[in-house]
Amino acid sequence: PEIYLNGRFLPPDEGKISVMDRGFLFGDGVYEVIPCYAGRLFRLEHHLQRLDNSLHGIRMPNPLDRAQWQAILERLIAQLPGADQSIYLQITRGSSGRREHAIPSGIEPTVFAMTQPAVYPDATTLATGIKAITLDDTRWKHCDIKAITLLANVLLRSEAKDRGAAEAILIRDGFAIEGAASNLFIVQAGQIITPPKSDHLLPGITRDLVLELAQQHQLPCRESPISRQMLDRADEVWVTSSSKEVTAVVELDGHPVGNGRPGPIYGRMARFYSDYKA
Ligand code: PDD
Repeated sequence: PEIYLNGRFLPPDEGKISVMDRGFLFGDGVYEVIPCYAGRLFRLEHHLQRLDNSLHGIRMPNPLDRAQWQAILERLIAQLPGADQSIYLQITRGSSGRREHAIPSGIEPTVFAMTQPAVYPDATTLATGIKAITLDDTRWKHCDIKAITLLANVLLRSEAKDRGAAEAILIRDGFAIEGAASNLFIVQAGQIITPPKSDHLLPGITRDLVLELAQQHQLPCRESPISRQMLDRADEVWVTSSSKEVTAVVELDGHPVGNGRPGPIYGRMARFYSDYKA
């Protein structure tokens, strides 16, 4: 399918960006990943609001308004009619023609968006869960900004993969924060727990939806820091993201979580989520 770049729709190979773009030189930009189920953009308003927050966090105005974004994204997904797909969009600060750290004034941002056929977790993954390992959170202090600067996340996820795990759960100062590319939930004595929003974690759109669904269906839940010990003793562990949806972690650092199978509360939440999606 065609991509969107700076006002035009083009075949991917025809999209060209300057090597002087600050996204390339500094990782100076932000992004979003928006799921699209059966041709419908999922929680678009929430994603566009988070995009505004990320842009604000890096001192950039949004180059497009909501209606313009919606028109672009609708046109992209119309290329794969009715399909499950995943939108990726990013805005970088553009180029002043030279490499300088401080933000130059008066430059045009680079605006890019594309759609890809989605690889959402298959029925087997949802039914059997995944393995995860814990790793020290080596990221910076503004993890609430969805920045394209993902080197730490890339290294962390790769280390997990090398060790046979699908996700790394990141530990900062003795507390479990989130995954390398997902948010974290545990279940303890029947209560669903996720860390409160802060600059240590990305405010996940899926995270917020899971909390909403828990409230709607009267499942006990609260936002509270999760200590290392709480994580190790949890009855259930889940990770959530736009691409993983809600996935159970059944093995953590080589030990089974609960009885080593997705737990009963997970089973209920997974059903609420798939009903909501439909
Ligand atoms: N990542 N935390 C981090 C660090 C993430 O990168 C992501 C998502 C999430 C979950 O957010 P959401 O529910 O809004 O997808 C949490 C995307 C999917 C990615 O980088 O591909």
